[in-house]
Formats: sequence, C-alpha cells, structure tokens
Amino acid sequence: MAIQSSIANIFIDLIPDMCFVVSSERAVLAYNQRARELLGLPDVPTGDINFYDLLVDDSPRPLLAVLRATDSAREAEARFKGMNGQIVDTELAIRKISGPNTEFLYVIARDVSEEKKKELDLLRFSNVVHYTVNPIQITDARGRMVYVNPAFEKSTGYSKEELIGKNPNIVSSGKYSKEFWSKVWAKISIGKIWQGEIENKRKDGSSLFTQVLISPIVDADEKVVGYLGSHRDITEQKQLEQQLMHSQKMESMGTLAAGIAHEVGNPLTSISSIVQVLQRTINDEFAKEKLGLVQSQVHRITKIIRDLVDFSRPSNYQLQPTSIVNNVKEAVEIVKMAKKARNVKFFVDVKNDIPLLSLVPDQISQVFINILLNGVDAMDGKEGRIDVVVERGDDDVRIAISDSGCGIDEDHLAKIGEPFFTTKPVGQGTGLGLWVSHGIIKSFHGDIRLKSKRGEGTTFTIILPFHPKE
Ligand SMILES: Nc1ncnc2c1ncn2[C@@H]1O[C@H](COP(=O)(O)OP(=O)(O)OP(=O)(O)O)[C@@H](O)[C@H]1O
Ligand SMILES: [Mg+2]
Repeated sequence: MAIQSSIANIFIDLIPDMCFVVSSERAVLAYNQRARELLGLPDVPTGDINFYDLLVDDSPRPLLAVLRATDSAREAEARFKGMNGQIVDTELAIRKISGPNTEFLYVIARDVSEEKKKELDLLRFSNVVHYTVNPIQITDARGRMVYVNPAFEKSTGYSKEELIGKNPNIVSSGKYSKEFWSKVWAKISIGKIWQGEIENKRKDGSSLFTQVLISPIVDADEKVVGYLGSHRDITEQKQLEQQLMHSQKMESMGTLAAGIAHEVGNPLTSISSIVQVLQRTINDEFAKEKLGLVQSQVHRITKIIRDLVDFSRPSNYQLQPTSIVNNVKEAVEIVKMAKKARNVKFFVDVKNDIPLLSLVPDQISQVFINILLNGVDAMDGKEGRIDVVVERGDDDVRIAISDSGCGIDEDHLAKIGEPFFTTKPVGQGTGLGLWVSHGIIKSFHGDIRLKSKRGEGTTFTIILPFHPKE
C-alpha cells in the first residue's frame, strides 16, 4: 500500500500541470510538485489549506458548482496567487470522485498565463490598428486583402465588404508602370520593407495621395504569410503643393508676359504703320489685298498683346464701390447680343442682398464676359442654358456661372487657366480668357473655382471677399 501510494506520488509529480485533491469542504488534501513550485506550498499539506485561499480575490470559484452538479467532470478557469506574487492564469479540469462516505475533487490546473498574455497583447495591438487614424490594410501572402481598418474605408470610400478578398489594386490610380510594382514586390516578398508616396484612386474616382509603408508579416519560420500596408493620407498637402506650384507658375508667366508684350509691342507698332503707309501709296490691287490680310493679322497680335499687358498690370484702374449684381447682369446683356448665343437662354438668380464691393468694374465685367462667352462656346451653336447664381456667403460673394455645354475633359482640367491653353480652332480662341480672369480675381484676393465633367456642363464659381486682406 505504501509502495503503491509512493508510485502514485511519482506519477502525479511528473504531470506538468498543477494537480490537487480537494475535500468537499474545499480543504486541500494533496498536491503535486508543480503546485509546490508555482504556489510555494510546503512539501506536505498542513491540513488546513482552503483551496480558495490559493486563488486571487477576483478569480472565479468553480468548485462548489461542480460538487453540486450531477455530472462529475467540469472545465473552468481560475487565477492562482503565484509564489512570487504573480498571477497564474489556469484552465481547470475538475473531476468529482465519490467515495463511500464522502466526495473528493480531483483538480488539474494548466498554466495558461503565457497564452493569456499573448491574447491580451494581440487584443491591444488589434485595437491600436483598428482605431488609428492611419489607413491600414493587411493582405495574405498572395496579396488579397484580409483586413482593412475603418480609416482605410473612410479614405478610399470603399466598405470593408467591398475590399476583403480583393487585390489592393482596386484602389490603384493606374499611374504606375508594371516595372514599378514589380520592384515593390521584389522587395517585400523577400521580407524587406518598402516605403514611398503613391497616388491611389478613391471609389468616387478622385485622387488619394498617401505615404505608404508596406512591410511583410512573417511567421515563426521567417516565411512571409502576408503584408501590412500602413498609409498616411497626404492628399490635402499634395493639393496645396500643386496649388502653390500653379500660382508660382502663373506669377512667373505674368512677368514673362509683361516682358514679351513690351518687346513684341514696339516692333508690331512699326509694322502696323509701315503697312498703313504702303497701303496708301501703292496701286497694285493684289498687293493691297495681301497688305489688308497682314493688317488684320497684326490686329490680332495686338489684341493678344493688349490682353497680356492688361494682365501684367491689373491694378492701374481705380477701385470703386461696385454692384456685382448690376455688373453681372450687364455682362449677360452684352453676351446675349452675340450671334453665336442666339440658341442660348440666360437666367440670373440673386439669392439675397448683396453689398457693394470695392472693385474695378471694367475688370470684373471682363471676367464675367470671358466666362459667359466660354459657356456659349461650349454649346457649339446648339440649344442650351446658362445659369448665373449670385449668393452672399459669410464673408464673401459667390457668383456661380453654370452652362449646359460640352464640359471639360478630365485630362484638360489641370491645364485650364494656363496662358494659351485652348481647345478652340485657330482664330477662335487665344487661350488667354481664363488666365486674364484668374489674374484679375486674384488681384482682388478672390478665387475662381471650376467644376466640370465631360458631357455634363461646367460651373465656374467666382468668390470675392467683402474685406480683402492685404
Ligand atoms: N464653360 C466651358 N465649357 C467647356 N470648356 C471650357 C469652358 N470654359 C473654358 N473651357 C476650356 O478652357 C479653354 C481655355 O479657356 P479660355 O477662356 O482661357 O481660352 P479660350 O476661350 O480658348 O480663348 P480666349 O482667349 O478667346 O478666351 C477653352 O479653350 C476650353 O477648352
Ligand atoms: Mg475664353
């Protein structure tokens, strides 16, 4: 009997989990080596250890439930007080053994502290990833998305249902070559990190610029099992940069234009006067006719030069209190007279009381006429309408001029307003109208905004502040 029980003890000590025998009064009657080590228990039970005293206060206390239950085996969890003050999280397997007079519980407690910690770390990590403002996507090894965070959904405009299982190229702008992407893949598939700035495309087709870091996710054997893409949305910054570049370009163009206007203007005046003298003195009809052509071409160049000069010194005129409403109505009346506008209907809608603004009326009319004429041109002789809406904002006046014309190609949008950009046949457009308008509105610290889509018409909105800041 003694030998048998010591063999039983050796067996029980070999078990890598803590084992206890507990009475129905929860007195600990026996335990194994592992329990001694982890909880610092004496070699032999002293008789009055209550099982629940081995647990921390907030631990579940499952024994009684097992004793009361009719089935004899049960799984549960418990948290023990470790010998060094640490908490030992365990999973319990409890078995009820009924003797002739009394009942015992045999309890095996497996230490799951490590797993619990990992679980918690993972939970913390996934919370950070989930709630960060940075758009994040995770793909499997084949590059299909298995996770996207809410910031990613928000930035791209796609819901996670639309993204999961798809290749990330669903948000691709298509602006990069195959070679570009193969270089990226070559790097990340061997476990390296790739970083760069890329232009993506949102669901609505607009651009989304991000600074992205793509890092491989490797398993314990260093095998790449997926990829993590962490983005920083830099769209706004990009747009500001582009605007700045654009306005700097405009400024240098202005300087250039003033120079050219001066250099070309003088010789042009001499040509014009020589032609006039010749026309008066010669009798050859053929030569006379050709000189007439020269003269009309010279006029055309002179007009361009005048526009350029106007643009390069727009503040020559006097500022005066100006009624934008009257000004825009006059411009509409003037444009209506044009032959090419005969199929176009004009509507002016003044939303609220518009205060007088300090402007140069002639220049402002020029802007309205330019934009209205562009609208008429966009109809290409067909029927259509132009709507002008004048509205008072918090600290500015907004004049929106919308036409039902052909709209502007996406490829052309960025070029609109650059000097000499025109899609009109030679002789019908110089491509200076909007450039000049832009310069005029800028000189009043306002802004011109453009919204257009091929086939869906165009809206130019002119914004003029009540109190332009110097
Ligand atoms: N309302 C519009 N609808 C469609 N395209 C437009 C519109 N307004 C401007 N555009 C495009 O922008 C280009 C530039 O316009 P801009 O007024 O600067 O020059 P332009 O009309 O071609 O020549 P001009 O110097 O005689 O005004 C046009 O050629 C046209 O392609
Ligand atoms: Mg024009």
